[in-house]
Amino acid sequence: MSQKQRKILVSSALPYANGSIHMGHLVEYLQTDIWVRFQKLRGHRCTYVCASDSHGTPIMLKARELDISPEALTEKVSEEFVRDFKDFGIEFDNYHTTHSEENEALVTEIYTRLHDGGDIYTRNIEQFYDEKEGMFLPDRFVRGTCPVCKSEDQYGDSCEVCGATYGPDDLIDPISVLSRTAPVKRESEHYFFRLSRYEQQLRTWMDDAALDKNMVAKLDEWFATGLQDWDISRDAPYFGFRIPGTEDKYFYVWLDAPVGYMASFKNLCDRDSSLDFDEYWDANSDAEVYHFIGKDIMYFHTLFWPAVLKGAGYRPPSSVFAHGFLTVNGQKMSKTRGTFINARTYLDHLNPSHLRYYYAAKLGPTIEDIDLSLDDFVARVNSDLVGKLVNIASRCAGFVAKRFAGRLADALPDPDLFAEFTDCSEIIAEHFERREYSKAMRMIMSLADKANRYIDENKPWVMIKDEAKTAEVQQVCTQGLNMFRSLMIYLSPVIPAVAEDACRFLGEEEWRWDNATSPLLGTVIKKFKPLLTRVEPEQVSAMVEQSKESLAGKSSVAPAEHDDTISIDDFMKVDLRIARIENAEAVEGADKLLALTLDTGDRTRSVFAGIKAAYDPQTLIGRHVVVAANLAPRKMRFGVSEGMVLAAGPGGEDIFLLSPDDGAKPGMRVK
Ligand code: 2FM
Ligand code: ZN
Repeated sequence: MSQKQRKILVSSALPYANGSIHMGHLVEYLQTDIWVRFQKLRGHRCTYVCASDSHGTPIMLKARELDISPEALTEKVSEEFVRDFKDFGIEFDNYHTTHSEENEALVTEIYTRLHDGGDIYTRNIEQFYDEKEGMFLPDRFVRGTCPVCKSEDQYGDSCEVCGATYGPDDLIDPISVLSRTAPVKRESEHYFFRLSRYEQQLRTWMDDAALDKNMVAKLDEWFATGLQDWDISRDAPYFGFRIPGTEDKYFYVWLDAPVGYMASFKNLCDRDSSLDFDEYWDANSDAEVYHFIGKDIMYFHTLFWPAVLKGAGYRPPSSVFAHGFLTVNGQKMSKTRGTFINARTYLDHLNPSHLRYYYAAKLGPTIEDIDLSLDDFVARVNSDLVGKLVNIASRCAGFVAKRFAGRLADALPDPDLFAEFTDCSEIIAEHFERREYSKAMRMIMSLADKANRYIDENKPWVMIKDEAKTAEVQQVCTQGLNMFRSLMIYLSPVIPAVAEDACRFLGEEEWRWDNATSPLLGTVIKKFKPLLTRVEPEQVSAMVEQSKESLAGKSSVAPAEHDDTISIDDFMKVDLRIARIENAEAVEGADKLLALTLDTGDRTRSVFAGIKAAYDPQTLIGRHVVVAANLAPRKMRFGVSEGMVLAAGPGGEDIFLLSPDDGAKPGMRVK
């Protein structure tokens, strides 16, 4: 290799160890794996690390729900991750966990350096506290009515109906998702990192890192609104590392997660003497460090992380590469539609090389979302990989095996045509380097078209019938197989398993990028076996069906993964009953509420309903309505509400109580 060997350290975002790897995650791991394989193929020293993100409240609670320790949970989940990654050909040089000795030592060291440098201070903050569970509540563990559009049961940080973002304090009638009780406000001391000090250094870093222009625009927005200091502590109970010098304060998971990149690398360095941790992480390191992430976690990686590294005397990343989200069939992945597909479910039905190629064909270097259209997936994979690429080899291999004992000709009949393939080598390499995979795939496939045209024009299957043209058949097929070989070398970061089989079939041991530019002549190839089969639409339908099934009835305490379906078991938990309105009256000081007294068969109960604009209370007395009778009582400003009356409509004057026909009696169950 003429170019100097680069030292490159690469990471993908660390997956939370309480879920499953799905098709959305795979965009990132495949994007990264392709880039790393490309660098290695070019002869660079490229090291790819990852780990399970094992700390935080959702993991602690999930473990509690399963009645196991968080360590046991994260170990079990990590084992599944490792299997999924391996089966997709995602080849980490090291896969570790953030709950490791190396990580604790590094986080402690970084914190101490920041502390000694005056970057840490403490301040009391008020937060929601669940008295029943005895713990402070992260924003996502508080739900209530959206302060903007008044939709009920929204998260404490954003509304899924109107998209508004806010703090849990802004919610109307907040409740803890853990105990379903109203949380109280409580003060505690938190530790803050002075991010605001780093603005100038971050601006310089941003220029050096040559971030994608959409990322720069986002950072500019954040600079314009002003950098807020960062709350890096959480109160016990918390699964994480304790802050030195405290009894009950823990590092927030987002502080130790990126340190997990370093820790995973450290763990590898400790076993591999050819790697030196300091060479990659010293403030004046000449190695390159890149983090591949999703666009949703840019703030952590482009502000907090470089600032923390600088503050602690380490080098910041050379750059951060963010990608967009995955949509399936043009929409957000959905459990109802069966498009929320887990990695394992995909593997149960389809070949990982197909997805690797499809994602590569769609991926660019920006934060634009990418769409997995399932029909297009079938069409594209069959047409490009099977119809164009593998076809080149299958059209040539048989003749060489049968008529020439597998021996390739000693020269190419059309060196100019082969030169077109080798001339593209550096352009394709540049596309890979810049993560312009879709451009690389287009170029490779247009070369595949050329190769197929060449074979069509020369028709070895006709020539072979003419004794005088025997030698020419060997040459034409050698030309065809060499064009196939170059393309396979270019594609080997994308479909490594197929490329490995192709390499063996051509009688070779291993490829490097440069091999694509020198033809294979006079050597003996092996018997050709089909390298890839077509995707059948039925396989895709079966995968979608299984995705619908496998999620039914699944429950989770972790609210991060919000589902738009409920299981029949969930539904059966709701006690819907007929109630008779005994009394209805306006509530003093409330614009929208009526206070209802309901006879639900078992007893009378008070319920507040937001129907004042639609109904004169007097007309309601004696009517039958449907009520959710087993809702936990909610403390409201005007009293306690002991249920919810069902109504339809957008609200205000347009709200309609559901009225059962005559004959319904208080207490009857709704079925
Ligand atoms: O968003 C997430 O899924 C996080 N677990 C990513 C962490 S990346 C890094 F900082 F560790
Ligand atoms: Zn809203």
